[in-house]
Amino acid sequence: MIATATIADEILALKREKKAILLAHHYQESDIQELADSIGDSLELSRKAQQFEGDVIVFCGVVFMAETAKILNPSRIVVVPDKDAGCSLVDACPVDQLRAVKARYPDHAVVSYINTSAAVKAESDIICTSRNAVDVVNSIPADKPILFLPDINLGNYVKKQTGRTNMRIWQGACIVHATFPARKLSQARAQHPEALVAAHPECPADVLKMADFIGSTSAIIDWCVTHEGNEFIVMTESGVSHTLNKRAPNKTFHFIPNENCNCSECPYMKRNSLEKLRDCLKTLQPRIELAPEMIERARAPIERMLAVR
Ligand code: 13P
Ligand code: SF4
Repeated sequence: MIATATIADEILALKREKKAILLAHHYQESDIQELADSIGDSLELSRKAQQFEGDVIVFCGVVFMAETAKILNPSRIVVVPDKDAGCSLVDACPVDQLRAVKARYPDHAVVSYINTSAAVKAESDIICTSRNAVDVVNSIPADKPILFLPDINLGNYVKKQTGRTNMRIWQGACIVHATFPARKLSQARAQHPEALVAAHPECPADVLKMADFIGSTSAIIDWCVTHEGNEFIVMTESGVSHTLNKRAPNKTFHFIPNENCNCSECPYMKRNSLEKLRDCLKTLQPRIELAPEMIERARAPIERMLAVR
């Protein structure tokens, strides 16, 4: 008797048939990460999208990440399992509000976090990710004022690291990282006195103050894996535990629940599922479609970022 193909088998077969690459962010469910050709943070996945040779990109993350892949690969088909996989930071910065603020501060360089819509990227001078934000800001002449958007915590962290005083920061926040309470981190440190703390820069300043290391999702993983310590409190979305446990099976990782849901999961990232992934590969829908003029304008600030780091 021939065994029934599992969804995972179907996905792998469809991936071959459609000449597709599957890119997955660290916050995806483990079963999706297991099937991915590449797992990474926003910067790494942007680079993978740029280097890829094939017909179809299946992006398992959130929509702004898939839009970045489309901007860098206009001639390829880019599909996502769920087009409603948004991001609170994207929602915090509508393009008409950005245009109004730009009109008030026309001399400012607009530095936009990659967690923005394609329309906002098209209005920006340069893009950054959590991994390269400090280098990107340092690449701008010191006397040039900056409008940094949309994450207030990342903006304040970068301002502190660069010593930049001429930086206006948008008031957006990530619903996951911005709601990690410093109080719960203090309790966890008391419970696990040997544990070191690694945090994503989208966390509030009082959480970052307690961190032994601050970095992007991949940078956090690399630091925990290579550090001589054996126990870590990880202040980011718990999807990173997939790679952490694989690369460092003998180490212990603790995750702190955020204020809203008593978990540390991004509800947008978790909209994707194996079933939706199989269906989008089968139908090549839903697709990321962007006007050529928008792609042209949004591509320049992304390429400026990729040239910095
Ligand atoms: P990274 O660039 O660190 O992967 O972060 C993306 C993100 O959405 C963090 O919440
Ligand atoms: Fe957006 Fe936060 Fe989810 Fe990252 S974790 S995708 S910043 S809502």
